[in-house]
Amino acid sequence: MDIQPHARMNAIGLMSGTSLDGVDAALVRTDGACVFAHGPSLTVPYPPGLRTRLRALLDEAPHLTAQSAQVLEIEREVTDIHAQAVRLIRAAAPDMVADVVGFHGQTILHAPGPAARPEGGRDGAHACESAREQSPATPCAARQDEPPMGQHGRTWQIGDAARLSASTGLPVVHDFRSADVQAGGQGAPLAPLYHAALLQGRPGPVAVLNIGGVANLTLLGATGHVWACDTGPGNALLDDWTQRHTGQPYDRDGALAARGTVHGPSLAALMAHPFFAAPPPKSLDRLSFHAGLEQIARLDAADGAATLAAFTAEAVARTPLPEQPGAWYVCGGGRHNPAIMAALAQRLAGPVRPVEDLGWKGDALEAECFGFLAVRSLRGLPLSLPATTGVPTPLRGGQLTCAGITPWGMREGGRIL
Ligand SMILES: Nc1ncnc2c1ncn2[C@@H]1O[C@H](COP(=O)(O)OP(=O)(O)O)[C@@H](O)[C@H]1O
Ligand SMILES: [Mg+2]
Repeated sequence: MDIQPHARMNAIGLMSGTSLDGVDAALVRTDGACVFAHGPSLTVPYPPGLRTRLRALLDEAPHLTAQSAQVLEIEREVTDIHAQAVRLIRAAAPDMVADVVGFHGQTILHAPGPAARPEGGRDGAHACESAREQSPATPCAARQDEPPMGQHGRTWQIGDAARLSASTGLPVVHDFRSADVQAGGQGAPLAPLYHAALLQGRPGPVAVLNIGGVANLTLLGATGHVWACDTGPGNALLDDWTQRHTGQPYDRDGALAARGTVHGPSLAALMAHPFFAAPPPKSLDRLSFHAGLEQIARLDAADGAATLAAFTAEAVARTPLPEQPGAWYVCGGGRHNPAIMAALAQRLAGPVRPVEDLGWKGDALEAECFGFLAVRSLRGLPLSLPATTGVPTPLRGGQLTCAGITPWGMREGGRIL
């Protein structure tokens, strides 16, 4: 495949986050450095039964292999929902012919191990470098299965890229995180370079906060440096709490939390998690804070929800930042929860606004990001930096499969060939 250095491509990004709510899909036109057009975006929800089985799979994942029947069965279903999302996007944008798919896959285990010692360094594509102290990090306390100090860990996204390529007839870039983890990075967050591309030309310091199942932030510094980190829980704990107490998958519009009161001692106990004492770079598994649900088990449903919404905000507020942002722009499903947004506004200095204030689509941003990263991967550009994942030097990533493209199809379809 011959990619012209500044070729603009139409990339369909697919993201299924740790909230396990479904597959987000979005189309962007990009050269992997800038975004020239935003196409349609949509979400294909997971059927409730699949969400339940995926949630159970997270508990089992440390003991399973990629060939386990349980994994293969769910992987096939998950992949086919992604293929459906691609079909719907293509139907919605008949004039924007897709060139490539960026397929994140569904994370079922994230245990990257201790962070490498970053040596700093520049990202040639963006001239970004860490503004932060380059100190060795202690491992964040994740799941019991986290590898011991000194070993690189593992991050596992299920999804059959060859099957997706076959059913869409498109080249598929996948496995975005493994190279980073193998190089000693945290494998997350990967959205910062996309946020930085969208923020080009805007004055910093400014923060983009993504509240998905877990939460992560990107800080664009006053001189254009990009810095990033997972901050703590996003929606996942609150989702699990709400499911347990009401049978609903999430606290819609923060209604449950709004009836409750934050329980200070419980919040303090939740904030005693060792993740918060560890310096960045650090990243989280969906289940990293799961034991916290037992810590607050005595609270009633509403007070527990209020306390968990406050926990998400408190974790952001306590994240040690190299610069204080003048404004916070929030994306991800958590920005739909008024209890979380109010808690953020209360705890953070500077205005807290949804990313729609920047003209961005807050529910599509992560999906767009993986379209953008697919093009970066094809062009051999870094996906992560010392200051975003703790990887020792700016690092490429992603794997390409063209399993669905026949030589004949390549000649017919292929603007990218
Ligand atoms: N109207 C809403 N009120 C409260 N929470 C919401 C609402 N809409 C979405 N959410 C939350 O957002 C989550 C999905 O967020 P998302 O950004 O897709 O996360 P992920 O990237 O982890 O999948 C849901 O599980 C739910 O917790
Ligand atoms: Mg989601």
